[in-house]
Amino acid sequence: MWRSLHGIGRNADSGGYRRYAWTPADADCRLWFRMQAEARRLDVETDRNGNQWAWLGDPTAGDAVVTGSHLDSVPDGGAFDGPLGVVSAFAALDELRARGVSFKRPLAIVNFGDEEGARFGLACVGSRLTSGQLTKEKAFELRDADGISLPQAMEAAGYDPEAIGHDPERLARIGAFVELHVEQGRALDLSGDPVGIASAIWPHGRWRYDFHGEANHAGTTRLVDRRDPMLPYAETVLAARREAELAGAVATFGKIAVEPNGVNAIPSLVRGWLDARAADQESLDAVVAGIEAAARDHAVRRGVDLAVVRESFTPVVEFGHALREELSRLLADSTGTKVPVLGTGAGHDAGILSASIPTAMLFVRNPTGVSHSPAEFAAEDDCVAGVHALADVLEGLACR
Ligand code: GLV
Ligand code: MN
Ligand code: MN
Repeated sequence: MWRSLHGIGRNADSGGYRRYAWTPADADCRLWFRMQAEARRLDVETDRNGNQWAWLGDPTAGDAVVTGSHLDSVPDGGAFDGPLGVVSAFAALDELRARGVSFKRPLAIVNFGDEEGARFGLACVGSRLTSGQLTKEKAFELRDADGISLPQAMEAAGYDPEAIGHDPERLARIGAFVELHVEQGRALDLSGDPVGIASAIWPHGRWRYDFHGEANHAGTTRLVDRRDPMLPYAETVLAARREAELAGAVATFGKIAVEPNGVNAIPSLVRGWLDARAADQESLDAVVAGIEAAARDHAVRRGVDLAVVRESFTPVVEFGHALREELSRLLADSTGTKVPVLGTGAGHDAGILSASIPTAMLFVRNPTGVSHSPAEFAAEDDCVAGVHALADVLEGLACR
């Protein structure tokens, strides 16, 4: 399975993945999912929001156990963020069948659409729509860097955008969702454990900063006459670092657009996207307010106009104690050891769904902690340990 996914959407120069929503690479991932499901005699359906489901048992029977993750990627993403959860789900089903278990609840494997938000700027679009946390109207306003709207992109990929929106009936089918994911930090590496259970996801969001200045000639415009938006932007990047350090949080400007983007032109516009995350809401609020205050000061001093827009926000997620405890107990029984419980600063569909249904996560050790990069890695033995753990959890939940 891993080898058959390897080449899809992979950029040969960077070695990273560019699997963006509703692109040909995304279609290839979806075809891969369908083929894996059909090879296992699962019933495949794509819901109105573009999420793919592979069912064993009656989808409408209720109280289903669902596992899976996403197959899309960030720009030049790694191989594991998302795909490890989907591949492990199919592998865990194979293992359960080899164990000869019988299922007492329906089981589904899911591939959520557009988890990373790499193309339209908003993460977890598939699960947000399904759970009602993103409306059709708001989704229709999303545009990619080329001005193509989300409904246009869906339509071009052969899907009906008119149908998207809250899907409580589908959610009502699910009794528990367990997402396995590569860890995106080094907690498991430091504790020496191949697998962990998630406790919480930090609150996090994305803010767009538009610094409007005045385009002019880079050679002839005196420094004192310039209204150069690159200057307050640069000062804001440094302020973000400082505010994050003060609060024990993280803040990143990882994406920028410059107009007119000419080497010999003072920009008219610098648009930067801030990603900020903290362990609690109060710290995050302090960081975000501190960065915006600094940005406004710098903008005024440089004669530049500033507009700040919050593009998305996900509040803190505390995974439900009951399901989490059950996972701990099941894994303690099967492995004979206590599996560590850890928090994360990364967002997941499981975090979005936790507001609607019982949800839990398993993490697989990442020896370097590197993620959202082609260097992302997990050792084969640890991936296999993750599959065993997921199979133990699914057997405990669905077969007893
Ligand atoms: C998703 O991976 C995120 O945390 O941004
Ligand atoms: Mn990711
Ligand atoms: Mn992910």
